Amino acid sequence: MRIDIITALPKLLESPFSHSILQRAQDKGRVVVAVHDLKKYGLGKHNQIDDYQFGGGAGMVMMVEPILNCIQDLQAEREYDELIYMTPDGELFDQKIANRLSLKENILILCGHYKGVDQRIRDHIITREISIGSFVLSGGELAAAVVSDAIIRLIPGVLNDESSALYDSFQDDLLAPPVYTRPSEINGWLVPEILLTGDFPKIEAWREAKALEITRAKRPDLLDKESL
Ligand code: ADE
Repeated sequence: MRIDIITALPKLLESPFSHSILQRAQDKGRVVVAVHDLKKYGLGKHNQIDDYQFGGGAGMVMMVEPILNCIQDLQAEREYDELIYMTPDGELFDQKIANRLSLKENILILCGHYKGVDQRIRDHIITREISIGSFVLSGGELAAAVVSDAIIRLIPGVLNDESSALYDSFQDDLLAPPVYTRPSEINGWLVPEILLTGDFPKIEAWREAKALEITRAKRPDLLDKESL
């Protein structure tokens, strides 16, 4: 899989992809993440990428031309399955969207800044708009990193068996059961005895029951969704 990210602040995206699972996924060749500096496509002497909005109003708007030129250069190299714009008014990101996107070959993500991008880019170029929550970030970069992380860890071969995504919260509309490690007792705090028995069918049944109990207590909406 390949993820191309277009941003006015490429440095913001250096760290999230340079550690742990995301770095290893790239080292193993499971994913290529390419970050593109929109300023390279800026106009004039000052590489301008934004301008005042028509009709007046505070805040700059990202211009059509630099974005269009950048996207067209990338499209000359490959076809994209999705051209995604990160925006607080997009569809709310969840595990189902992550699952679907993890099956794609080429994804392009455009990060907005300032007041956002000229609407014509959204109307004519973008195929999908995604929000990571009902709050406003200073730009789309951190949101793009969140979405990319959730997608990349689902690509087959990225996680090893021990950290398999199958047991993640939300994977089957359930939150994950609690986990424990050594020591089995500290300060009088005990690990549930069942986990120490080695009886794996019983442990599995306990985990399923716990997952259901926790989901019912913390996110009953996830269970309601199932009965829709
Ligand atoms: N850009 C600014 N806020 C955002 C959000 N909540 N989700 C996605 N992109 C954003």
